[in-house]
Amino acid sequence: MTGAALLAGPDPRDGAEGFAAHTARLGALPSGRHGLIDTLERAGLRGRGGASFPTATKWRSVASRRGDSVVLVNGAEGEPLSQKDRVLMESRPHLILDGAVLAARATGARQIVHYIGAAHAGALAAMRRAINERPDAERRLMRLVEAPQRYVSGEETAAVHFVNDGTALPTALPPRPFERGVSGRPTLVQNVETLAYVALIARHGDAWFRAVGGGGSSGTALVTVSGAVPAASVHEVDGSAVIADAVNLAGGLTSDSDAVLLGGYFGSWVPATRAWALPLDVGALSKRGLSLGSGVIGVLASSDCGVEMSARIAMYLADESSRQCGPCTFGLRAIANAMRRVATMQAGVDDLAHVQRWAGLLPGRGACRHPDGAAIMVRSALQVFADDFSLHVREHRCIVPAAVARAA
Ligand SMILES: Cc1cc2nc3c(=O)[nH]c(=O)nc-3n(C[C@H](O)[C@H](O)[C@H](O)COP(=O)(O)O)c2cc1C
Ligand code: SF4
Repeated sequence: MTGAALLAGPDPRDGAEGFAAHTARLGALPSGRHGLIDTLERAGLRGRGGASFPTATKWRSVASRRGDSVVLVNGAEGEPLSQKDRVLMESRPHLILDGAVLAARATGARQIVHYIGAAHAGALAAMRRAINERPDAERRLMRLVEAPQRYVSGEETAAVHFVNDGTALPTALPPRPFERGVSGRPTLVQNVETLAYVALIARHGDAWFRAVGGGGSSGTALVTVSGAVPAASVHEVDGSAVIADAVNLAGGLTSDSDAVLLGGYFGSWVPATRAWALPLDVGALSKRGLSLGSGVIGVLASSDCGVEMSARIAMYLADESSRQCGPCTFGLRAIANAMRRVATMQAGVDDLAHVQRWAGLLPGRGACRHPDGAAIMVRSALQVFADDFSLHVREHRCIVPAAVARAA
């Protein structure tokens, strides 16, 4: 159930593993650039930044372009409920740097940009120190850029824009980063956890990766458990683990819970009765129409109202929109306003119907997936908290009275 691959070795709470200790534990970085993409493909490695895109496919697209490319290491971690990228950067920075160097070799990159959330001071310090410990030839390729702490900053085109011109705004228009990204060069944007796994797969092989996942899954995953647990914490689990196991690793429930937000602010609310037994495996979740996203498990406490929490998340996402596209700027804002009215007992049945209809209009209409992610969260809230929504708009009542004051 608890895998130990990414966080194997010294206790992550003891801080960053230095270069000498990292190399002594795992051996030197395998040399040579050939065959790794095929190995990643056989391994079935998928991105850990939220979209679960097959890593080998992305590497092939960049490697097939002419001229030097760039590797952009995504450590922005803008998702408020996620801490797993920070924990990894703070404890195993050299796994990430190994993965970035391997990615550079395989795709023909001569620049590696580490794009790390400006608010993540511990991660920034650990990555800076680790870069300085690397051999000269690698260090010369690398630079570190502090990502603005906005939700959309970690979106791949926003990241490329910020590195190029200091504006972290997403864009839908071609060229995409793999065609023309940082400095106009083909750019591979990859989450830090994905790259850390590349470093292990390159050493141990694809069969090892599939085996370490257990339960037919590919590899272990880092998850952040928060909400009705003693404290938010990060755990490494394999594909045989279910949500209840992750909650137990986090210290167990501190109150009853009716629902779990799986995948983060772009994720889905799942009723607790169904959630506990859900496997933490991307493939198994996808068959159930769910996503692990960036590994977030947010457990709703009995002192929290699902309607109010969902309204707050919708408002946050509306505030965090980059306001470049109509559906996101106006549609998401209208949904967030209506949900706030519902949460504060100022709405009627019509408002609920509007939210339902507008949420159906958001997907596929923005330059990035921000409105799509928001729509997933909103529609799951309407389903899972249907009785609570109804109570709010029909009887102007909430089963968690304290939540009304908080929402106001
Ligand atoms: C609004 C938005 C915010 C995102 N923020 C992050 C982030 O903070 N970190 C991250 O790794 N990916 C983030 N992503 C996903 C990236 O666009 C990209 O898919 C990812 O970095 C690719 O790496 P991966 O294939 O290793 O997952 C975000 C996507 C969207 C739509
Ligand atoms: S969809 Fe929203 S967040 Fe994405 S670019 Fe458009 S306005 Fe910005």
